[in-house]
Amino acid sequence: MEKSRVLVVGGTGYLGRRIVNASLAAGHPTFVLHRPEIGMDVEKASFSDHGSLVAVVRQVDAVVCPIAGVHLRSHQIPLQLKLVEAMKEAGNVKRFLPSEFGIDTARMGSAVEPSNVSFDDKMAVRRAVEGAGIPFTYISAGCFAGYFAGGLCEPGRILPAKERVTILGSGDVKAIFVDEDDVAAYAVKTIDDPRAENKTVYIRPPENVLSQLELVRIWEDLIGRQLDKLSLSVDDLFTAMKGMDYGVQVGMGRYYHVFYEGCLTNFEVAEEASQLYPEVPYTRMRDYLKRYL
Ligand SMILES: NC(=O)c1ccc[n+]([C@@H]2O[C@H](COP(=O)([O-])OP(=O)(O)OC[C@H]3O[C@@H](n4cnc5c(N)ncnc54)[C@H](OP(=O)(O)O)[C@@H]3O)[C@@H](O)[C@H]2O)c1
Repeated sequence: MEKSRVLVVGGTGYLGRRIVNASLAAGHPTFVLHRPEIGMDVEKASFSDHGSLVAVVRQVDAVVCPIAGVHLRSHQIPLQLKLVEAMKEAGNVKRFLPSEFGIDTARMGSAVEPSNVSFDDKMAVRRAVEGAGIPFTYISAGCFAGYFAGGLCEPGRILPAKERVTILGSGDVKAIFVDEDDVAAYAVKTIDDPRAENKTVYIRPPENVLSQLELVRIWEDLIGRQLDKLSLSVDDLFTAMKGMDYGVQVGMGRYYHVFYEGCLTNFEVAEEASQLYPEVPYTRMRDYLKRYL
């Protein structure tokens, strides 16, 4: 089967550049649409010009949009809505992967404030996509390893502690950690897969379903010593959040939902990426953490 031509909108981003690499590695003719102000104006497309966006999406079969998950009601939603309008008019796009790649938005109807803002925004895009009848796949990716596993799930840290670590609540709640390159590889796999059409595909590699304490133990084993552990109660978490700026509060809300509430793992899933695509050799967190030694 001929591989879909893939357009990546946001291909310069943290996840976006990995999607571009994975798409090329999988043999998809791959195009990147980026803001004209950063360099070449691909096909003279401007995000604000409906006509040129339509012309661009007509040249491809699938669109992936890993644009910023900014923590403010901002430009990213209008941009995706413009993209949806363009795809609707073009009428040729066989698969759209909007900017999801995290907690399953549809399950976050009662998310805490102000975290709910980003879920509400992503839901607005879902409604537009489904209303326009564009075939979609929503990728629910768990915790990006670089953001979460690297810092042993300590808010504000991206490198693992060497002496003491803050444990979120009991530390026993199961989360999911995924190497961002694996997120990209799985996402690209879904593009031409009819089993993923109009579905949410969950990335839940079984060996990477771990609690914070399990992750810490893996690290302790690698460094050959125990860390001191302090527990942060849920009340302390919310008290600390009050003094933080808005964007940080949005991010901290995610720690609450993932590590206290268990929102990534407290339900069964049907379409799971490592089962659908066993040929993707996903990275185990023991191997991931070795880069910090
Ligand atoms: N599960 C997790 O743990 C986790 C963690 C982080 C992110 N995510 C999700 O992953 C997705 C991608 O996030 P990311 O961190 O990779 O984003 P990012 O690094 O901030 O990437 C941003 C991309 O979006 C583009 N962009 C932003 N605003 C734009 C605008 N107004 N017009 C055009 N392009 C714009 C940027 O273009 P420029 O280069 O021109 O700025 C860049 O290519 C989001 O849905 C996010 O929620 C999940």
